[in-house]
Amino acid sequence: MSPPFPDRRLCVAPMMDWTDRHCRYFHRLLAPRALLYTEMIPTGAILRGDAERFLRFDPAERPVALQLGGSEPEELAACARLAERHGYAEVNLNCGCPSERVQRGAFGACLMREPGLVAKCVSAMRAATALPVTVKCRIGVDDSDEWDFLRTFVDAIAAAGCRTVVVHARKAWLEGLSPKENREVPPLRYDIVERLKRGRPELAVVVNGGITTVAAALAHRRWADGVMIGREAYQNPWSLRAFAAALQEPPPPLTRHEAVAAMADYARREATAEVPLRAIARHMLGLFNGLPGARAWRRRLSEGMLRPDATAELLLDALHCIRSEPALAA
Ligand SMILES: Cc1cc2nc3c(=O)[nH]c(=O)nc-3n(C[C@H](O)[C@H](O)[C@H](O)COP(=O)(O)O)c2cc1C
Repeated sequence: MSPPFPDRRLCVAPMMDWTDRHCRYFHRLLAPRALLYTEMIPTGAILRGDAERFLRFDPAERPVALQLGGSEPEELAACARLAERHGYAEVNLNCGCPSERVQRGAFGACLMREPGLVAKCVSAMRAATALPVTVKCRIGVDDSDEWDFLRTFVDAIAAAGCRTVVVHARKAWLEGLSPKENREVPPLRYDIVERLKRGRPELAVVVNGGITTVAAALAHRRWADGVMIGREAYQNPWSLRAFAAALQEPPPPLTRHEAVAAMADYARREATAEVPLRAIARHMLGLFNGLPGARAWRRRLSEGMLRPDATAELLLDALHCIRSEPALAA
């Protein structure tokens, strides 16, 4: 039996400034069926900014989940409606981001303290769209007791109709830690996320945080409905092929050189819309990690892409830095 759509066995995390549409186009080449998340987009940017710029994406990126930042049910509902119209596969509400800017906007991780409000947001979004409405959260914030706090939060959103929750398996400490520290310092507690799945088997639970190897991903899949990979997918994008092969289906044969050629075609197409090469190439710096020449590739690309006259040919030129690639390496 094929898994329900969207297939969440492998998800690539929402990452601000990283998982833009160019990054997703690249990741899609490597993991044909992974569910790819947008960066978090605040509802205000969509409703009072250039919605088209924030929402449009290439059909080749599908399936894509739109992650929203907000806490106003009506605004979230309006954005969910737009998400459906633009062809997204899912709408996700960010309840995990600890940045101060986001806290000032009263959304992100601090929403975990307001399960009633998040439930209203979920209800409003569900009434506005037929798309799945999901929530991404932490296991808790500050000195909350992990299990009771998480259970209360998840039960409230589940009662409002949320069927899938993505849990970053560490707390957010809302004061005193930078967002980067908040992804590293609070300890990972996969056991709490597993307890959630075992206690609420009807919910789809996707586990996230610190998963960098196929072995770890497969171990989580013994109990979790899906695994979400963030930094490892971005910094070492070729790893996506191994995650895809292990968690979904082996992707069709592809070499890194072929991936670069495909991205050069994409960059040529995007150049006609005045997209600078650096907007695309910056996501590809880690493609050859672990192979001879990886550092030279990274340097050639990162220096060359800053030149105002950089074109897609830079990607192909930089391939000369790579001496060899294992044939069809997965
Ligand atoms: C640069 C960066 C930006 C991020 N932006 C978001 C975001 O917009 N929304 C979100 O829910 N999480 C965001 N995160 C958190 C990731 O989605 C993920 O939860 C976290 O990195 C832990 O997963 P990992 O250990 O696999 O990277 C971001 C992480 C990074 C590194």
